[in-house]
Amino acid sequence: MLEKLDDLMSEFQTALSAVITKPELFDLKAEYVGKKGKVSSILKSLKDATNEERKTVGAKTNTIKEAILKAIDEKVALIEIEEINAKLEKNWQDITLNDIIKENGLNAAGYHPVTLVQREIEDIFISMGFEILDGPHIEDEFHNFEALNIPKNHPARDMQDTFWFKDMEHLLRTHTSTIQVRGMESHKPPFKFVGPGKVFRCETMDASHEMVFHQLEGMMVGENISTANLIFFMKKLLSEIFKSDINVRLRPGFFPFVEPGFELDIECLICKGKGCSVCKQVGWVELLPCGMTHPKVLEAGGIDTTKYNGFAFGLGLDRLVMMRYMIDDIRHIHSGDLRFSEQFKEY
Ligand code: DAH
Repeated sequence: MLEKLDDLMSEFQTALSAVITKPELFDLKAEYVGKKGKVSSILKSLKDATNEERKTVGAKTNTIKEAILKAIDEKVALIEIEEINAKLEKNWQDITLNDIIKENGLNAAGYHPVTLVQREIEDIFISMGFEILDGPHIEDEFHNFEALNIPKNHPARDMQDTFWFKDMEHLLRTHTSTIQVRGMESHKPPFKFVGPGKVFRCETMDASHEMVFHQLEGMMVGENISTANLIFFMKKLLSEIFKSDINVRLRPGFFPFVEPGFELDIECLICKGKGCSVCKQVGWVELLPCGMTHPKVLEAGGIDTTKYNGFAFGLGLDRLVMMRYMIDDIRHIHSGDLRFSEQFKEY
């Protein structure tokens, strides 16, 4: 009898290993441990056995029954996992955009050249310990003009044709210098930061003028900041960006928020200084206006001018992009034309 039980167990194990599906498994379960199954019939046959036999065989039968039930449970779990895996394998979807785009023969997007250059410059400044700040597109008069030493009726307001809101109190920022003001309001000196972003001016569009363009403002405030510091950072920036010798010229520039103010021009890389529509035929491009921050601006920003001074600059990002990639018309930048943007496929 005991031998028979051993045989039954090994017979069950062979059968179990051949089972693949759940219905097959349930049939097997019924065949062995069901009411009319093989194990029950052994138990039934015990009615004619001796007491001794009943004890040993009964105990062994129960152990075997439990082992069979346990093996069946384990197999159920295994089959369920396999079912899930099979489903996953069958219904597997690649949701990454790139593959969908490739499979459907669509055009893969990349970063806009302005974004590429902006990020590169941010990295350069981060490596020099600058913070990156942001500011709102919709501004008030104080942050766009007043705090920058451009009072009402100041001629500089006409230089920047402003998009005003109906309330005549709010406007679309005409420059990222607003970020200087916000930066001074939120920081205690010493500090240095850059603030990139879109700016808006109601201008007639041509090869070098757009109504929406990009600037990157920079400011450093601390003790004993000098023009030498300003020139050091500007040189460093240009050498990192162009990675080659470019011709630069520094000339006095007028901006109400700096004194002294400078215009840093680079030789036009599109015409190599010969004169073209981008450089307005002068061979030089105004790229980096800058200067020592006017004390009135520092005061409006809450900075103690007996202790601190600083410098600021406003890099023209679109012009830089144009020089970098030899783009001869600023209007391409916002054209949305795929033939243009496809050429900058970097991610
Ligand atoms: N905000 C000026 C503009 O849009 C550019 C500028 C000039 C920014 C001199 C500066 C600066 O920070 O120092 O024309």
